[in-house]
Amino acid sequence: MINGKSTSFEERDALDGRSSFVTSEPRTESSAIMAPPEGRTSLDLRPKGAVPGDKPVLLMVDDDEEIRAQLRWALVSSYTVLQASDRSTAIKLFQAHRPGVVLLDLGLPPHPGTPEEGLAALTQILDLECRTKVVIVSGQSERAVALRAVGAGAYDFLCKPVGLDELKARLARCFHVASLERDYRDLQRRLSVDGFAGMVGNSPPMQALFASIRKVATTEAPVLILGESGTGKEIAARAIHQHGTRRAGPFVAINCSAIPESLLESELFGHEKGAFTGAQSQRKGRIEQADGGTLFLDEIGEVPLPVQVKLLRFLQEQTIERVGGKGEIRVDTRVLAATHVDLEKGMREGTFREDFFYRLAVVRLVLAPLRARDGDLRLIAQSFLHRFSAENGRSGLTFGQDALRAILRHPWPGNVRELQNRVRRAVIMGEGPRLSAEDLELEAGGEGTVLTLKEAREDLERNLIRDALKRHGGRIAMAASELGVSRPSLYDLMGKLGLDREALKG
Ligand SMILES: Nc1ncnc2c1ncn2[C@@H]1O[C@H](COP(=O)(O)OP(=O)(O)OP(=O)(O)O)[C@@H](O)[C@H]1O
Ligand SMILES: [Mg+2]
Repeated sequence: MINGKSTSFEERDALDGRSSFVTSEPRTESSAIMAPPEGRTSLDLRPKGAVPGDKPVLLMVDDDEEIRAQLRWALVSSYTVLQASDRSTAIKLFQAHRPGVVLLDLGLPPHPGTPEEGLAALTQILDLECRTKVVIVSGQSERAVALRAVGAGAYDFLCKPVGLDELKARLARCFHVASLERDYRDLQRRLSVDGFAGMVGNSPPMQALFASIRKVATTEAPVLILGESGTGKEIAARAIHQHGTRRAGPFVAINCSAIPESLLESELFGHEKGAFTGAQSQRKGRIEQADGGTLFLDEIGEVPLPVQVKLLRFLQEQTIERVGGKGEIRVDTRVLAATHVDLEKGMREGTFREDFFYRLAVVRLVLAPLRARDGDLRLIAQSFLHRFSAENGRSGLTFGQDALRAILRHPWPGNVRELQNRVRRAVIMGEGPRLSAEDLELEAGGEGTVLTLKEAREDLERNLIRDALKRHGGRIAMAASELGVSRPSLYDLMGKLGLDREALKG
């Protein structure tokens, strides 16, 4: 284990940036493999804010001066190595330089014989930047503690004595994964901004949905959108409108369950003056208002049978008659409809007409519940946090580790709407710079969080592998090389994570 000696060493220099920017060391045989391969220009391994030409920044936290000196010698040709021998220096350096990877010894002063200081440093670092890759360096006898650290969010661990080649390979992988994550986030940002009316998502069901939206947007066919409450049926309808040829026309939405039965017909079809008591003037209905654009019939399952008949006629003929009207009016309105109820059951029970159903459901889109969108939870939560914190003048808010864990654990019965409401409330009510599980009014979760972290890591790995395979048209060898793993390992991982190579070729 580490000796208890605390030194002032180079922290001061590192803090003002002098000793940490050494570039003159000769490149050793094995360190040469650390340089990012030629031609991999899309993968920028430099830290955020680095000057072009700078090396990735690595923070090494160890109270053993000799070990630090040795490792620094071995790594300095590939990285800008910052060094700290205790927790407070490590945190100061971390805040000043935001290294992407931290090599952390757990036995630090003033209690070098126990792992507590190291574990505290780990938590602080992850709270400052949860994406940091922290690699724990521990003695053989501390394996259990190192595993505990992985449970608390560390990325990897190494047992002493550390072989230099192994260390270098692992560090290269950490930086590589960090850069892939950055690419992935950039891509997501672009997708969600340019994409589908603000719909965020990269999971297979959402990718399939986006592809379907692109296809149906350019047709005139009615579309029936199905899905649990809060899954995004209305936003999907808006996306279809915005991506179609009618985008310059109006998008008119009507919630059929919110309008009393007696008023629904005139609301949809309009009425002539004097058509019924209270009809003091002529009024265009929603179908006419949507002429040249799209009508979105929300909660279509609540439409009473007589109105279903009239709507069916409109769908067949593209003509309507106002209530109390004398003639037919031709309209050019595309219809999209949505419901969270089971229309097939309605048909069996006689509350929903079969002919109307088949007219409406020329194309059916089904929105997956949030819990079935592998990997999207964090993405959507972060995008809401970004949006609401900016709207509320609280930019820079982040989720604490406990909040992220709680988000991954919660079953989200209210789907995206529930997530949106919880994040919005937390941004308004939460007090610190980091939102907690409590701010989200979610269970914080206790010791049993290791499984969830494992799931979170698997989610991330799945996304990274999926993206790499897509980039390389499903070619395993190229994706494996980019991800820094061997081909057999990539096959194993794909099997474990349930990824299908054929489906990822496009
Ligand atoms: N993929 C997504 N990305 C970002 N925001 C989303 C996404 N899906 C839904 N939302 C947001 O979540 C909220 C609920 O979505 P929407 O109203 O479309 O759901 P819904 O299925 O129509 O719900 P309900 O059945 O309750 O009417 C909206 O504010 C919407 O903007
Ligand atoms: Mg809705």
